[in-house]
Amino acid sequence: MRILTGLQPSGKLHIGNYFGAIQPAIQLQDEGEAFYFIADYHAMTSTQDPKALSDNIRELALDFLACGLDPEKAVFFRQSAVPEVHELAWVLSTVCPMGLLERCHSYKDKVAKGVSANHGLFAYPVLMAADILLYDANLVPVGEDQKQHLEVTRDIVGKINDLYGADTLTLPEPRIREEIAKVPGIDGAKMSKSYNNTLPIFGAAKATRKTVMKIVTDTTPVEEPKPTESSNILALYKLFVTEPEVAKMVQEFEAGGLGYGHFKQTLYEAYWDHFAPMRQKREELEKDQGLIDEILQSGATRAREEASKTLSRVRKAVGLA
Ligand code: ADP
Ligand code: TRP
Repeated sequence: MRILTGLQPSGKLHIGNYFGAIQPAIQLQDEGEAFYFIADYHAMTSTQDPKALSDNIRELALDFLACGLDPEKAVFFRQSAVPEVHELAWVLSTVCPMGLLERCHSYKDKVAKGVSANHGLFAYPVLMAADILLYDANLVPVGEDQKQHLEVTRDIVGKINDLYGADTLTLPEPRIREEIAKVPGIDGAKMSKSYNNTLPIFGAAKATRKTVMKIVTDTTPVEEPKPTESSNILALYKLFVTEPEVAKMVQEFEAGGLGYGHFKQTLYEAYWDHFAPMRQKREELEKDQGLIDEILQSGATRAREEASKTLSRVRKAVGLA
């Protein structure tokens, strides 16, 4: 089984990215042949500052490796190290109806917010389909917000295989972890870098503690029992600890006598402990830029081998070879 996912290098990773995308990918690297990449071409639809783009690529490589991506198990590479993806994207775009792309939420939402859309943003799902299909991926772990892009990919496979033969492209399945599809931000809305409500994975201690202390709560006085249903503190705490620890905090909420500040401190400590080994690994990796380049280079070589196999199959099927 081949597992594939990509992440855009578009700024500091937050714990929504971690629980929604990185941790599932890392857990899956033991279950098949994993291909994980840095979607740097995709990031260009929103990052047009060369220094920011190249810094973000490096940061994401560090983050991914620090969080447990094992280059011995997974093929780890930069999307732009395999430019073959554009040839496949072209083939796919010739069967992809405009309407399918016009309906994509990620595109529609940006346009609705007044972002002036470039062709790259519009064609984004076709390039994403090419990312997946170039490597014959079977399983694609993604967050809820990428579900529609996977549907576009599957539609495109249907069209290509109807036209050019059933074995031309491999139909991928999305894997979405429903239970943590939406990690809440410190204001209770979905955590997202666009909402300014994030907790970074690798933030500095003092600043991150300050952010945790800003988590929005109601105004129940210290001595009174506190509602547990819609608590942002509990929703986040659950991500880091075992069920008995969650049950203990629920009990303390219900008993009254402890203020929200106390619970936020407990949450902060759980957060800090969870990422401590990864923080240490990241510091070590940071000292060795050569190693990261080497890992990405050898990943790219392996990825290109696969890409060229798929492309020669597709070229033959469509009549280009
Ligand atoms: P952001 O919303 O901060 O811009 P991205 O869109 O770059 O994040 O998301 C990168 C990956 O992280 C995607 O797979 C996405 O589904 C996942 N992800 C982002 N935010 C969350 C969240 N709050 N909960 C769960 N997964 C998330
Ligand atoms: N669109 C994805 C995101 O924003 C990143 C991505 C690009 C991707 N190509 C992919 C994810 C292929 C999975 C498979 O998170």
